[in-house]
Amino acid sequence: MGAATKLAFGVFLISCSSGAILGRSQTQCVQYSYHPARSNTSGVEACVGEKDKRLHCYATWRNVSGNVELFKQGCWLDDVNCYDSAECVERREVSDIFFCCCEGNMCNEKFFYNPDRMQPTSSPVTPKLSVFMILLYSLVPIMGIATIVLFSFWIYRHHKLAYPPVLVPTQDPGLMPPSPLLGQKPLQLLEIKARGRFSCVWKARLLSDYVAVKIFPIQDKQSWQNEFEIYNLPGMKHENLLLFMGAEKRGSSLDIELWLITAYHEKGSLTEYLKANVLSWNELCHIAQTMARGLAYLHADAPGLRDGHKPSVAHRDIKSKNVLLKADLSACIADFGLSLKFEAGKSVGDTHGQVGTRRYMAPEVLEGAINFQRDAFLRIDMYAVGLVLWELAARCTAADGPVDEYMLPFEEEVGQHPSLEDMQEVVVHKKLRPKLRECWQKHPGLIMLCETIEECWDHEAEARLSAGCVEERVVQMQRNSNSTGPNDIVTVVTMVTNVDYPPKESSL
Ligand SMILES: *[C@@H]1O[C@H](CO)[C@@H](O)[C@H](O)[C@H]1NC(C)=O
Ligand SMILES: *[C@@H]1O[C@H](CO)[C@@H](O)[C@H](O)[C@H]1NC(C)=O
Repeated sequence: MGAATKLAFGVFLISCSSGAILGRSQTQCVQYSYHPARSNTSGVEACVGEKDKRLHCYATWRNVSGNVELFKQGCWLDDVNCYDSAECVERREVSDIFFCCCEGNMCNEKFFYNPDRMQPTSSPVTPKLSVFMILLYSLVPIMGIATIVLFSFWIYRHHKLAYPPVLVPTQDPGLMPPSPLLGQKPLQLLEIKARGRFSCVWKARLLSDYVAVKIFPIQDKQSWQNEFEIYNLPGMKHENLLLFMGAEKRGSSLDIELWLITAYHEKGSLTEYLKANVLSWNELCHIAQTMARGLAYLHADAPGLRDGHKPSVAHRDIKSKNVLLKADLSACIADFGLSLKFEAGKSVGDTHGQVGTRRYMAPEVLEGAINFQRDAFLRIDMYAVGLVLWELAARCTAADGPVDEYMLPFEEEVGQHPSLEDMQEVVVHKKLRPKLRECWQKHPGLIMLCETIEECWDHEAEARLSAGCVEERVVQMQRNSNSTGPNDIVTVVTMVTNVDYPPKESSL
């Protein structure tokens, strides 16, 4: 057995045994939650976490000139910053929100502030790093192992100094100014949920709520910047647009990551949902209507909102992966990395016409023949909406026929990874579109949906429906199909058992 194998095996044994010991013990924490409007809650929380992970307790509070205002107490998931600390002590120099975590039953009952002024600042970080670079590049493999051990120790030490609640190694987020909204609220990254073209999306915990954190590498600053600017436009809060919570730069100058923090939706994207589920007619209508409503709002130019003039915005990457589903199956539109805003009197600025996801590109985009007017961009979004509506129809149980496995639009025609040429051939030259099944033509609602789909993906951009019009159509088709027909009574019943539905909202 080589030294490395032995070492790895040893580490494995140690981690297994410590996991097993910790797994058996139950952790309980003092729970408290301050609510400005309702009454405060307090009690004891039994912590639940993954097997083989440690559990901790935490507390956050303010200290206004000696007057302690408790904010929250509760369970905290596995975090190296809390290991083996029996007392809950905030050691950083902070001025606003204090945070501490500890290990042991009810250890957060008492909490203290004790800034440790003896700790070194971050200045020694850079020289240390370059020493490690030399070690890494010049020494023989045996020394390499020693380097790894030293390096992990460095990470461990470094981590202890870092902004406590963040679980991203090899970073020093303490150096970055936090965004005003998040302040110093502790954020814990939990697991990767999706990987996109530029970024990956994490599920994270911000105090007791889940949030999504989209992390961009520094090379994709442009995409982060653009999305951040779009979210910050006036009027971007809408129930069918993903809720933005903050943006941050994290890490030291050597290793910066760009973060966008948004609401988290457990059901994930429409693509994932359709892979695993079929839709009743009413579910389809609800998703289609809320998606169209979100896009109509995004497209609209709305002066005189409470926070200013919302300009018209083209999304430019509409696809089922960028439509998220809330718990009640309402859609919300996400990912504004490629979006363009249109402000009166201002030019659109530098833009490249041929962007987006090839599979969802309108014929004029595939041909590189778009004019750079606002309406041209909005119509490109509507073409993609047609394809998403087709994806919904293909997974709907309303028609009198079998429902196929989930497929991406054009997957039958061009497969999983089409080239630009493949898409041009199919969409522009052959003018093909995904197949509308014959059995869909027998359901009164699906007939209307098929017409709507065809009017969205029309080859002539000027002939396409607007998002507001699609929303109206969906309202109508749901009304028509629900008024009669024995089929629909069945689908209504399935719907009630499947989903906790909100009362139907009136159309805009
Ligand atoms: C909740 O607790 C705060 C102090 O943390 C207190 O000022 C406030 O009155 C409490 N609210 C209620 C409704 O009990
Ligand atoms: C609050 O502040 C006072 C002095 O400003 C300090 O003595 C005390 O330890 C602080 N307590 C907590 C829990 O932060």
